[in-house]
Amino acid sequence: MEKLDQLYEGKAKKVYRTSDDALYLVSYKDDATAFNGQKKGSIQDKGIINNKVTNFLMQMLEKSGIPTHFVKELSDRETLVHRVSIIPLEVVVRNIVAGSLAKRVGAPEGTKLRRPVIEYCYKDDGLGDPMVNDTHILAMGWATEAELKQISEYALQINSVLSAYLEDVNIELIDFKLEFGKTPEGELILADEISPDTCRFWDSVSGEKLDKDRFRRDLGGVEDAYWEVMRRLMGEDRKGAKT
Ligand code: TMP
Ligand code: ASP
Repeated sequence: MEKLDQLYEGKAKKVYRTSDDALYLVSYKDDATAFNGQKKGSIQDKGIINNKVTNFLMQMLEKSGIPTHFVKELSDRETLVHRVSIIPLEVVVRNIVAGSLAKRVGAPEGTKLRRPVIEYCYKDDGLGDPMVNDTHILAMGWATEAELKQISEYALQINSVLSAYLEDVNIELIDFKLEFGKTPEGELILADEISPDTCRFWDSVSGEKLDKDRFRRDLGGVEDAYWEVMRRLMGEDRKGAKT
């Protein structure tokens, strides 16, 4: 398998074609943006952490019956994934009120929700990823009814698996964002990443934020928080040694 030309560069990752038509190579960057790219910066070694944390969690989800794009970790920053066409939706699952939901419903961050909330945003940077509902999605043809049903079932199942696992390492899963893709055979699978960039992780004892909100809100200790998540999940310290 050979790395070929770059297909796409996003805010946090680059995607390359490979000599195998069915596989893409993803390369994770340290670049960090927030508020639709208005705030720019870099988080040292974020690309390494997000690559490893994503792969670890995707393999765990695979074992729980969720199909994912993960194929093989090639290096610290690079992973081989199944080629998909991305469904243009950001699927957000929430257990606790935070971030944009706190503003939308006027409830303080930390308010427990009676049941998980699922939100969909149309993936379009030019439009600022607006929130849409299921009827918009079907009316615009971004996904079929069967796909949307599958997406919401997977999203809730992923929430249960991740929440339970994270609870054991004293991390509360507040909310997170997923993306799904379709393989050339038409199978719906989990794609993109699951990392401190795309989840809110709060320490279940201290309430300390262990995610990208430290960057978004200039809270300091950004790198330490990312390393702490990787250490708790995978038992690896900064040198990659087992602790
Ligand atoms: P929000 O509260 O800002 O809507 O974010 C909800 C969750 O989605 C949070 O865990 C962060 C994640 N997220 C992304 O992964 N990408 C984004 O562009 C945004 C806005 C949020
Ligand atoms: N990554 C997104 C951006 O650059 C938003 C975020 O994660 O807050 O705008």
